[in-house]
Amino acid sequence: MNRWEAEREAFRKLAGAARAPVAIVGAGLSAESGVPTFRGPGGLWRSHRPEELATPGAFQRDPRLVWEWYNWRRGRVAQATPNPAHRWLAAYERQVPSFLLITQNVDGLHGLAGSRNLVEFHGNLWVVRCTRCGREREDRSVPVPVPPRCPDCGGLCRPGVVWFGEAIPRDALARSIAAVQACDLLLVLGTSAVVHPVAGLPDLAPEAPLVEINPASTPLTPRARLSVRAPVGEFLAPLLADGTEENG
Ligand code: APR
Repeated sequence: MNRWEAEREAFRKLAGAARAPVAIVGAGLSAESGVPTFRGPGGLWRSHRPEELATPGAFQRDPRLVWEWYNWRRGRVAQATPNPAHRWLAAYERQVPSFLLITQNVDGLHGLAGSRNLVEFHGNLWVVRCTRCGREREDRSVPVPVPPRCPDCGGLCRPGVVWFGEAIPRDALARSIAAVQACDLLLVLGTSAVVHPVAGLPDLAPEAPLVEINPASTPLTPRARLSVRAPVGEFLAPLLADGTEENG
């Protein structure tokens, strides 16, 4: 029996039986793709201050510094490829079309892996938004010329992500709340579950079994039906190999 085989069997059963599953994922999902997390060991908030880099005030004070940080992140993410966890989630959507993936990650790796039924709760690193006319466009340049100007109105552009102190886009929030309230399985993968409103979503599904995969425990661990102390890519990889995601 290799490591976590019993947990994989339990996971396989829960995932195979669900008809309205929802996944809530965080930075830990991209850790095995080489994208740094925020709070774990080596996390970005260990060496950077969010107040200086990821708030509207920080951007107002020093747009150049904020864009330099996002260019550094673009460079890191541009070298990353989806790992087995991203690929398993995309395959699961093909098996259960009602499956909704709610991601806090802005790296776009879910889209690269093939996920379509996706809510990017905190926006997307590759989107640039004009602070004057609001026009959004995808810009995959690495680096972005600092600071980028809007091709329409010449206004200053910002990263198309949600910063601390900003509201989650209304449609993303509404879609996530509705899906969690109706779900019959909640997969919580690679998130410290401390940033609201995402961290509060599981409270909307008190009856749904909750499965957590994370090398560390989180505030959600006590209520989990199954909580696996494992790297999520390593845990899900064998489920890709045996085609589980195709036949449930
Ligand atoms: N597999 C699964 N989980 C992992 C792995 C892995 N290979 N590596 C690390 N983790 C876990 C860590 O134990 C931690 O619980 O991933 C979690 C990452 O937590 P955070 O760094 O806090 O990331 P996240 O939960 O996504 O943060 C939420 O905070 O800074 C904001 O906007 C940012 O979207 C982010 C939000």
